[in-house]
Amino acid sequence: MSKDVVVIIGIGGMGEAIARRQGPGKKLVLADFNEELLARRVTELKADGFDATSRQVDVSSRASVQALADAAAAIGRVDQLINTAGLSPAQAPVAAIVNVDLLGVALVLDTFATFIAEGGAGVIISSMAGYMSSHLTTEEEFALATTEPESLLALPIVAALSDPGSAYGLAKRANQLRVRHASMAWGKRGGRINSISPGVISTSMGKLELEGPSGTFMRAMIEGSGTGRIGTPSDISNVVSFLLGPDASFITGTDLLVDGGVVASISTSPSTLFAQSTAS
Ligand SMILES: NC(=O)c1ccc[n+]([C@@H]2O[C@H](COP(=O)([O-])OP(=O)(O)OC[C@H]3O[C@@H](n4cnc5c(N)ncnc54)[C@H](O)[C@@H]3O)[C@@H](O)[C@H]2O)c1
Repeated sequence: MSKDVVVIIGIGGMGEAIARRQGPGKKLVLADFNEELLARRVTELKADGFDATSRQVDVSSRASVQALADAAAAIGRVDQLINTAGLSPAQAPVAAIVNVDLLGVALVLDTFATFIAEGGAGVIISSMAGYMSSHLTTEEEFALATTEPESLLALPIVAALSDPGSAYGLAKRANQLRVRHASMAWGKRGGRINSISPGVISTSMGKLELEGPSGTFMRAMIEGSGTGRIGTPSDISNVVSFLLGPDASFITGTDLLVDGGVVASISTSPSTLFAQSTAS
């Protein structure tokens, strides 16, 4: 009997944890821009007994994402799709962030909507930064949710972005909105699609952000949160597993905030509420 295929795009810290969680009994198709990382991951996972293959992909290219989907479908029934590919403000300038985090996610959602198997499911990794991008109007949110991928970067609100932090927040908010909209196309094939918005997670990306210009602010956010701790990759892979599995069969088109309580704390702390009341 041929095994179901699980496609994981972005095989960094979270991608590896998700591969180990979802991989047993499945055919893993691992995809990333970084060929050296891909080769290392496949070797490690195979050594640990996983059935894994790899393919280089650039999520900001429709042709590249299409070629990945074609290759995965040639291997077997594409039952699960997880996109973790991303670039953070400490890693990249505005143009690269919008290409990968905004356009890339839109292309992955569009392409895999026509490949997901009946009863299959997908998860897009967004960010709690999407919850902090609250200045958007209803019209801007609608445009981010529904504009054709190739026209997204020309939207005035995207074209006006000038700093990596704002670009990242807007792209991650757009991920949540596009997942809502994509749930109808995915549903036509009997598939479900959701997003997860992680807080600060201890991967190479998370550690780089903690060492970067926002590090002091991020540490204060973690300390003030309900859990008071940084997240681990398995905090995210646990929730991915839930959203892809049968217990989540009535959940589609939504986002799960998995941030250890950071957004709850900063959105209701006296200093934040005071700043909001004096600003309005
Ligand atoms: N680590 C955190 O604290 C944190 C917090 C919130 C959200 N996130 C989001 O979670 C996701 C996973 O992050 P991570 O911590 O595992 O980071 P990571 O850097 O370990 O992994 C991200 C992977 O994306 C790949 N990638 C970058 N550009 C690509 C492209 N054009 N095409 C294909 N792959 C590409 C990178 O090569 C890398 O392997 C990202 O989308 C990130 O924005 C991370």
